[in-house]
Amino acid sequence: MKYLKHLFLILCLSIVSLVKAEEGMWLPLLLEKMNEKHMKSLGMKMSAKDIYSINSGSLKDAIVSFNGGCTGEIISSKGLILTNHHCGFDAIQNHSTLDHNYIRDGFWAANYGQEIPNQGMFVTFIVRIEDVSKQTLNGVTPSMTESERQSTIDKNISEIRKTAKKETYQDGFVRGFFEGNQYYMFITETFRDIRLVGAPPSSIGNFGKDTDNWMWPRHTGDFSMFRIYAGKDNKPTNAYSADNIPYTPKRSLSISLDGVAEGDFTLVFGFPGRTTQYLQSAAVEQIMTVNDPAKIAIREKALNVIDGFMRKDEQIKIQYAAKYAGIQNSYKKWQGEVLGLTSTNALNKKKTYEAEFQKRVNANPQWKAAYGNLLGDLEAAYAEIKPYGYARDYYNEIASKIELLTMGGWMNSLVTSYEKDGEKGYNQRLEQVKYQLGSLYDEYNSTVDQKLYEVLIKMYLEDQDAKYQSPLLRDIAGKRGNDYAKMAADLFAEVDLDNREATKARLEKPAAEVVNYYKSNPVVLLYKDMVNSYSTTVTKNLNDVQARVNKMNRSYMQAQIDVFREKTFYPDANSTLRVTYGKVKGYNPRDAVKYDHYTYLDGVMDKYKPADYEFDVPEKLRSLYQAKDYGQYGANGKMPVCFIAMNHTTGGNSGSPALDAYGNLVGLNFDRVWEGTMSDINYDPSICRNIMVDIRYVLFVVDKYAGASHLIKEMKLVHPKKK
Ligand code: ARG
Ligand code: GLU
Repeated sequence: MKYLKHLFLILCLSIVSLVKAEEGMWLPLLLEKMNEKHMKSLGMKMSAKDIYSINSGSLKDAIVSFNGGCTGEIISSKGLILTNHHCGFDAIQNHSTLDHNYIRDGFWAANYGQEIPNQGMFVTFIVRIEDVSKQTLNGVTPSMTESERQSTIDKNISEIRKTAKKETYQDGFVRGFFEGNQYYMFITETFRDIRLVGAPPSSIGNFGKDTDNWMWPRHTGDFSMFRIYAGKDNKPTNAYSADNIPYTPKRSLSISLDGVAEGDFTLVFGFPGRTTQYLQSAAVEQIMTVNDPAKIAIREKALNVIDGFMRKDEQIKIQYAAKYAGIQNSYKKWQGEVLGLTSTNALNKKKTYEAEFQKRVNANPQWKAAYGNLLGDLEAAYAEIKPYGYARDYYNEIASKIELLTMGGWMNSLVTSYEKDGEKGYNQRLEQVKYQLGSLYDEYNSTVDQKLYEVLIKMYLEDQDAKYQSPLLRDIAGKRGNDYAKMAADLFAEVDLDNREATKARLEKPAAEVVNYYKSNPVVLLYKDMVNSYSTTVTKNLNDVQARVNKMNRSYMQAQIDVFREKTFYPDANSTLRVTYGKVKGYNPRDAVKYDHYTYLDGVMDKYKPADYEFDVPEKLRSLYQAKDYGQYGANGKMPVCFIAMNHTTGGNSGSPALDAYGNLVGLNFDRVWEGTMSDINYDPSICRNIMVDIRYVLFVVDKYAGASHLIKEMKLVHPKKK
């Protein structure tokens, strides 16, 4: 009996370690082979072919990569797209004026004619995915240098793309997976006439702003709607045209009005950007102790400066809101990442895994010869990278926050274009610079920038090794006794690049005169010296070690696949179409605290602070709440708002659909919980959760709040649980 019990326990334990439940971002074309069984065991009621098929319509035909960085999905037979508010924000902001403030008030087109075109916006469908590893790696040998290898691969890829079967209006690209051990081709269809259909006011679409960002419990209705327009033949066009018509998609998602319960299966389909799950432990340790802390410290200083001005000045508050949110987003995420890696003992887990790896490798002579020294070599290489990585983070974070230096860079590019390509090159570049300057100045305040310069240049000169610093900057500081305030004041007094009118007037002058002026401009000289010292003392060395590390990582990745046969590996995110799945579930963020999986409109009202920048609630929403007027969208007298699940997502999954066991739309992904943002490096089922808006809240806002019931009529609403 005792023996049996023991056996049973061992069996259970080994099953648990084999089925690493909800972790993973899977390639849609491999689901049938790798995941279908597991997905069904978690409650999925459809087949892998329903999700991805190239022979018949499948759910993938309703998913788009939205404007490069986000995901969107088709929710009507008239090409209506749903994505996040923060993914459509640029467009919403661009169309906003003082009279038509769509950020503050929301926007709803009453008919096709009112839908607003967006220059440059695009969405991309994935027509099919093909394994092209063999063709891509044809001619690649182990003795090649990294650059020889890359040029062989590039040549192969261009051949593959040329000969790929596709229509004239389609395109194709090839991407590396598993550190370049495998390659897949994606045949795509890109539409470039995308019009804004609707967006809630930001007091709904971005409710809770930065305070609530990355947080659970969450109460944000983070959605907006667009429409794809196609030519009369329903094919993509290269730009907006008044003659274009709403696109008739191959597939649109049905929308469930039944919501989800704890334990329900959910699937998130989209374009996750970048993860690094297979790093050696020394690399993870460096992220936790060197890189994240450095970036956090710099951003904290920058945010303090900007926040100080935003609180005192309404104009600055408007100008810097988007910039502040952008800087704050990663700042907060990295903090959560360090916290989560620490609290889940990620480092120890990695080390245990590596010990097991080494043990298995040592036991097999062939593996031992090929992989025996890998871990040690990687560790040594990461030790080499450390100072350069820190210097890189310092340079990138600081240089990008001081906009005067950004402008110095642009002016320098005018000089180099002129010197290289004469007036013609200059004029081409000038057009771009003028455009870039225009949008920079719109959101620019010289006093804020001067303070940023003071505070960040101090960090640049005091917190890193002198050998990575700009000699010119050290000299300037030395002459002023390291008085950074004086340094900043002197520079900003000496130049007028921070002055829109002066710069605009100067750029009207003849090319030779402009070039002559900027050639010796103190900002341009400083910019050049910083870039120059950075590239000679940091980039060069970093690239050299990184090339070796990449090669070893490719080998380590293949080794892990060879050695851990019992494990199913998924490739790191690389902005290609993936499926993640899991269960709806709450979590324990810390000792004695338990979070539910659902939030309700009651919670919005609990957070409500009249006239507050982050937590104001529109009058109409308050009265709908008072009247409990939720129409067909409420559940048991309450209005669901957001929910969480164990789906493994990352940046780029914003706007991804959350689907139920049958493939109906139940939610819209927009964030992760703070404690679990380390899922990019080491997913842990105990605290990693993605955050979605309940689709019923989206429909309620469209229908009841905005009165845009004509949009609801386009959609297909279903009741899968009331069959
Ligand atoms: N954290 C989410 C993401 O990484 C949402 C960001 C936009 N929202 C915000 N309040 N900044 O993109
Ligand atoms: N908000 C993120 C995005 O823009 C998604 C959240 C995440 O990183 O998981 O893609």
